[in-house]
Amino acid sequence: MGTPTHVYSRALLRERYSALDTAFAGYPHDLHYAIKANATLAVVREMRAAGGHADANSGGEIELALRAGFSPDQIVFTGVGKTHDELVRAVTLGVKAINAESPGEMERIQAIAATHNTVARVAVRVNPDVDAGSHPNISTGHKTTKFGMSVVQAYAMVTEMAQRPNLRVVGLHVHIGSQITDSLPLTQAAATIATMATTLAAQGITLEHLDIGGGLGIAYEPGQRVLSPEEYAAAVLPVVRPTGLRLVLEPGRWITGPAGVLLARVVDLKTQADGRLFVIVDAGMTDLIRPALYGAWHEIEAVIPRDGAAVDCDIVGPVCETSDTIGKQRSLPPVAVGDLVVVRDTGAYGSVMASNYNRRPFAAEVMVDGRSWRVVRRRQTVDDMLQWEA
Ligand code: LLP
Repeated sequence: MGTPTHVYSRALLRERYSALDTAFAGYPHDLHYAIKANATLAVVREMRAAGGHADANSGGEIELALRAGFSPDQIVFTGVGKTHDELVRAVTLGVKAINAESPGEMERIQAIAATHNTVARVAVRVNPDVDAGSHPNISTGHKTTKFGMSVVQAYAMVTEMAQRPNLRVVGLHVHIGSQITDSLPLTQAAATIATMATTLAAQGITLEHLDIGGGLGIAYEPGQRVLSPEEYAAAVLPVVRPTGLRLVLEPGRWITGPAGVLLARVVDLKTQADGRLFVIVDAGMTDLIRPALYGAWHEIEAVIPRDGAAVDCDIVGPVCETSDTIGKQRSLPPVAVGDLVVVRDTGAYGSVMASNYNRRPFAAEVMVDGRSWRVVRRRQTVDDMLQWEA
């Protein structure tokens, strides 16, 4: 296939979906796979085949979910800035829940539903004001962030919604961030909406589900302490159980992250004046932006390690920015131009965050299934890249 290429394991996708599903088996729940983590059609279809539902964050992800075979009642639609067209589409499809983020959005959904003579199923996204303890760029549950509404605002909005003829309040939603490795914020967030649901029930407003979002972290570095699915379930089920409401989860990274790697080839080696060795590969921030954007760590290994003493190096891409780094201060076996390296845990927020910066085409994507493999997205060509331009 050439390089760079994203490679996914079908077995691992299935295995991880089922590990998470099994951890929650003792309580009524739906896993709505967060499409944003990996939106390649073959991956999303795999999540559906495994029994999952879908979490969409844009009109594009709604369309993708439909093409992957999900029915509207299996889709929840979240997003901090939904456009009129996106809302019209979601309302007329009749998705399972539109997670509303503001009073203005509630009014727009009501108006659209009235125009189309229908009743929209709406949930309210609550900002529980908890610190997810993750990287600031991907922590969303603090009151200073743009996401959701405070508990006080959310109560007012649910009460208001219950009066609207074209809205049906079906749930409460929280998502406090991603790559969370501590159970406490997850418990606090779930407890916030569970308590609200109980209070609302006492006022005669009965919901259908509690949506606790995604966020479960994975071990990017060897030995990194993360929560197991069982620990995750133990952190949230005790607070959700008393409500008796169906639980909705929106996992992304935990399922697809470790099920993908990025293959790249060494294109040059050089030692700078200060003695630093650079291993320059043909994958860069256009294929995997996480190290540049969040200082994220991904394990990097030689596919066929050569004998000899390990070398200290920075592994970098070809893009014209110093931020275009895949791994800083790493140790690799001796490498030569032409060698293949593998970057691990790139199955989530890898290909979905790719760009054509420097007119670099999107990498190919391959699904390995047992001893066979197939191309699930061919490498983009220059013609593909230019096809919309006049
Ligand atoms: N639900 C909502 C509403 C979300 O915003 C997200 C992720 C998820 C579910 C899935 O979260 P997960 O289970 O994957 O943690 N690009 C960043 C991650 C951004 C996450 C955005 N929202 C990264 O590469 O680390």
